[in-house]
Amino acid sequence: MDKIIVFDFGSQYSNLICRRVREANVYCELLPFDTSAEEIGKMRPSGIIFSGGPSSVYFKNSPRPDKKIFEMGIPILGICYGHQLIVDRFGGVVRKSDGREYGHADLIVDNKTDLFNGLADRIKCWMSHGDAAEMLPPGFEILGHTENSFSAAIANRQRKVYGIQFHPEVVHTEHGIEILKNFVRTISKAKPSWNMKSFTEAAIDEIKQKVGEEKVLCALSGGIDSATVAMLLDKAIGENLKCVFVDHGLLRENESALVSKLFKQHLQSEVIYVNAEKQFLEKLKGISDPEMKRRIIGEEFARVFMDVVKENGPFQWLAQGTLYPDVIESGVSKGPASAIKSHHNVAGLPEWLSLKTIEPLRTLYKDEVRRVARLLGMPNEFIQRHPFPGPGLAVRIIGEVTSEKIRIAKSASKIIEEELVASGLYHNVWQAFASVGDDRAVGVVGDQRLYGHIVIIRIVESIDAMTADWCRLPYDLLRRLSDRITNEVEDVSWVTYAVSSKPPSTIEPQ
Ligand code: XMP
Repeated sequence: MDKIIVFDFGSQYSNLICRRVREANVYCELLPFDTSAEEIGKMRPSGIIFSGGPSSVYFKNSPRPDKKIFEMGIPILGICYGHQLIVDRFGGVVRKSDGREYGHADLIVDNKTDLFNGLADRIKCWMSHGDAAEMLPPGFEILGHTENSFSAAIANRQRKVYGIQFHPEVVHTEHGIEILKNFVRTISKAKPSWNMKSFTEAAIDEIKQKVGEEKVLCALSGGIDSATVAMLLDKAIGENLKCVFVDHGLLRENESALVSKLFKQHLQSEVIYVNAEKQFLEKLKGISDPEMKRRIIGEEFARVFMDVVKENGPFQWLAQGTLYPDVIESGVSKGPASAIKSHHNVAGLPEWLSLKTIEPLRTLYKDEVRRVARLLGMPNEFIQRHPFPGPGLAVRIIGEVTSEKIRIAKSASKIIEEELVASGLYHNVWQAFASVGDDRAVGVVGDQRLYGHIVIIRIVESIDAMTADWCRLPYDLLRRLSDRITNEVEDVSWVTYAVSSKPPSTIEPQ
């Protein structure tokens, strides 16, 4: 399958470039900027895109790609900082520009041969840079300019190297997707063969090849990712698959029943149900540190899996629903995210659980998983449910996990879900839930003083959970939520709404 590689020079949009290329039906991966030419050679990409980034090419330690990349004959498109890298690499001069361009600018297209083929003469584009080329390198021609930048788009066709100062990946750039398509499909000649149907067929074949006659244990979390993995495995290896669903007592209300109904209808393979509520809650007693909670839950999951393996095994593989953002966040892009939370799909499984792992979704974003699930015949009501974290309510309960706080988080979350469904907004938001900690506030209930819990409502919009924004809900809906939570959930006296985005906050509070 043809592919495009994006080199990550630290732009906040690097990941978005990948998504846009995939929207053009070409498989795309984000790699660290210093990936070696040798490694790239093995991957045989049709084209390479250099992302933007916060650095300046005239800084001493600015990030630079392996020089040999430029000599491989692979088409390159540099965006913003990537554009300046190209100018610098081939002997041009980049300087801090006097007329800095941030936000909208009009790009006047001077040459429509390839990158701007089929596009208008004037394009509104999105700029975000403080540097510009002062002198172009030899062999480069100008494809477009703006008022402040004489070389906003350049090319050396012989070398198949292109550079643009603006960001085609953001929605504020008109025809951005067409510009990327021209690079990907026309200049790089990548065939548009990436779609969820071809992915699904290839994933099933790959599982067959990888696993052979060995046995797989698939850990189901109740979410769509692991359910999709199970359905792919079900189709690929049939009776060599067994699934396990662990109820750790930190699930959404009625989760267990709903999930078991779904699995009965859609999976041929055996599903082993384990009620491990007591064991998990016992281990979490007295623990309030968020990372410690995650670690304990991870270890407990692994213990349960070990028991299941002993009783139902042998198994050689453990299947997990790891997604592409998890892979990126765990350090591929060298971002700071891996240090923020120990993310995992089922839980952070310790190394002593010596099973090989199989992760058929590790190249996909969440919306792509939803499309695969649809192709596999999963019902819509399940596909469109909000994501739920593997460690469950433990990451929504601030401080120690107690049965009192579990009760409050569960009931208040159920109310939030019901009200969003009733108002038709459920499918417009990424996640919506209640969080509770140890803070209390004074209330007055039926003429009595109540020093009750404070419930935090968290409702966010997002595309892939890497960034998120809080939802501007109608005041009436907020009032209904607050009324119902204080009336129906015992021992709650205050309700607050979390109005911080990711970043700087994260979606889950722990
Ligand atoms: P944060 O809180 O990091 O969450 O902004 C981003 C997305 O990931 C989910 N999440 C998890 N999912 N295991 C999971 O399966 C985890 O440990 C985990 N932690 C957070 C979270 O619900 C949100 O959708």
